[in-house]
Amino acid sequence: MTSAGKPAFLHYGHQSVDEDDIAAVAAALRGDFLTTGPLVQRFEEAVAGRVGARHAVACSSGTAALHLAAMALGLGPGDVAVVPSLTFLATANAVRFTGAEVAFADVDPETGMLTPATLRAALESVAPARAKAVLPVHLAGMVADMAAIAAVAAEFGVAVVEDACHALGASYQTGGGIVPVGSCAHSGMACFSTHPVKAITTGEGGLVATQSAEFAERARRLRSHGMEYDPARWTSGAGFEDGKPAPWYYEMPEIGYNYRLTDIACALGLSQLGKLDRFLARRAALAARYDRLLAPLAPHLRPPVRPEGGGSAWHLYAVRIDFASLKLARGEVMRQLRANGIGTQVHYAPVHAQPYYRRRRSALDLPGAETYYRRTLSLPLYPAMADEDVDRVVAALAAALKLR
Ligand SMILES: Cc1ncc(COP(=O)(O)O)c(C=O)c1O
Repeated sequence: MTSAGKPAFLHYGHQSVDEDDIAAVAAALRGDFLTTGPLVQRFEEAVAGRVGARHAVACSSGTAALHLAAMALGLGPGDVAVVPSLTFLATANAVRFTGAEVAFADVDPETGMLTPATLRAALESVAPARAKAVLPVHLAGMVADMAAIAAVAAEFGVAVVEDACHALGASYQTGGGIVPVGSCAHSGMACFSTHPVKAITTGEGGLVATQSAEFAERARRLRSHGMEYDPARWTSGAGFEDGKPAPWYYEMPEIGYNYRLTDIACALGLSQLGKLDRFLARRAALAARYDRLLAPLAPHLRPPVRPEGGGSAWHLYAVRIDFASLKLARGEVMRQLRANGIGTQVHYAPVHAQPYYRRRRSALDLPGAETYYRRTLSLPLYPAMADEDVDRVVAALAAALKLR
């Protein structure tokens, strides 16, 4: 409730920042380091430990994480990477930043995710020598079929980078057990975002998780201009004085960026990470309540498809609504919900149809992505929501869909 007694506006996603998070940030501000200090490494180690990765490299956004991963793979002009069309722009843009081209893959119309079959179709459309990578997206916090996707990728000799920006805290069944997203059981790297609507936040921020020391080291160097401080890796000979490494010297073997994350942000990240399990449990409980209360609206409205084994991070609660058979415009439904204090969003319009990408490649027909896009609507879901908020959303949605 607001102070005026009106129910608070429910955003489709929202951060949960408490006094202890604020105190952690204030303590960092009183410390010696504002940019890269000891909290960056502590945050990286804590996230790596949580997701079962040997290394995590913190950076300024999920987009930067994807770009660092693409650069760590060595993507560049002449190369092609496969990206599912149903994603945020960043997955494809990170590939383009390197000069490589994007081959958009279709998705399952029910889950919105890349499948082994849609990956195969996309890879078959690319000249074999050019295909270098695939970036499956764990949409809404559900996990793509990693083992099967990795098997197709291996057949075509392409690397796998997970866009796990929605999936910090998610897990999936593979081989003998359940593994966390980020453990890279079937990928070279997994990229997370800590943007405010994500599982935990650092304001803006992201991480590359990997089991590979080589990828981690490269991503870490490229995060800060490509600077190399380790004398053992210097090649020019200019960094030595009387045979000793000069204390001021660094070498730049390749060009990088300023994608650093601050100690201030990592203080917030560490404080938030301690709450991740609580946040995930609350998201799952709210999703279960939605499932139950929305069941009577089937078949016009169907809840998200739940993966077998493992657990979703429940980044979004994205329902599938048959707007066409209901003869309703999605925008009108969204406007009506907004008038009732309820925010919704569409994740996502297919990226292959964006003018920039249409200009780069002749028309593509990706019916799975179009079908998913036509029906999807993300309802409010974040840990601070009360059970009654879910009840309010369901009642308002049923009314807006004229199903009650
Ligand atoms: C699937 C996906 N990938 C990448 C990103 C980029 O993350 P960031 O906003 O932290 O740059 C986002 C952010 O919304 C996303 O949803």
